[in-house]
Amino acid sequence: MITPILKWPGGKRWLISSGQLPKISQYTKYIEPFLGGAAIFFYLKPENAILTDVNKELIETYQAIVEDYVSLEALLRDHHRNHCTDYYYKMRQFSPKDRISIAARFIYLNRTCWNGLYRVNKKGQFNVPIGTRTSILRDTDNFELLSVILKSAKIYYSDFEQTIDLSDEGDLLFVDPPYTVKHNHNNFLKYNENIFSWQDQNRLKTCLLRAKNRGVQIIMTNADHECIRELYKEIGNCFIVTRMSSLSSKSDNRKSITESVFTANFKLN
Ligand SMILES: C[S@@+](CC[C@H](N)C(=O)[O-])C[C@H]1O[C@@H](n2cnc3c(N)ncnc32)[C@H](O)[C@@H]1O
Repeated sequence: MITPILKWPGGKRWLISSGQLPKISQYTKYIEPFLGGAAIFFYLKPENAILTDVNKELIETYQAIVEDYVSLEALLRDHHRNHCTDYYYKMRQFSPKDRISIAARFIYLNRTCWNGLYRVNKKGQFNVPIGTRTSILRDTDNFELLSVILKSAKIYYSDFEQTIDLSDEGDLLFVDPPYTVKHNHNNFLKYNENIFSWQDQNRLKTCLLRAKNRGVQIIMTNADHECIRELYKEIGNCFIVTRMSSLSSKSDNRKSITESVFTANFKLN
């Protein structure tokens, strides 16, 4: 299995490794409107795909791998050599202008920040503190292979609604939005509300219903919560999946968390 290059909050690798991803058969085009770490895309390796996200640097990172992964790897080697606390905070402040440097900084920060978290301040500046990991280059990295897989995909910055509206009968939509619920007291979900409001959840439901009515195959993951089941009840089947929480570094604080998966126009085996 290909290892995604980024550790991404809410990443769905565990859905594959735990055997809980619904079995996917044929589809025409693969569409992922909340791309993040792209775990499902790298697992399926579709030949025809549309991949979008509203995180501009994330999108530039994937575009840079296609454009020139050799120069990107060279810059990552520089970051690897220079890595220390001072260097991390200097890079965190720095805003490179060209795409390859933007991508190298993005991967460097992702691999050395606290728990692979992605969080920005009100000015949009990345503000996650340094973490304990020090390996910027990994044995599992295969940028050449990633560039081949990504080359045939259309990858661009977009809000989810325009992307979902491109889907047609027979296409497969994998939808993994930031998790928010109507009212909550959980700090992690509260932060998500700044980037994905309850209004966005409503907007998502409306455009997923349009896609469902066009005959698009849909898999959507979301929080396991009554308000989510209520909101998305017209989408289709809902089942519960379980993962181990990885937000705490202390093993005694790890616990199992449930999430929901909705499917439409989809034959579950
Ligand atoms: C839970 S993550 C997706 C994780 C991904 N499935 C993986 O395996 O790594 C959600 C993604 O949605 C993106 N996002 C948030 N609001 C969005 C919007 N309005 N339109 C498109 N993408 C959005 C975030 O930037 C983030 O990358």
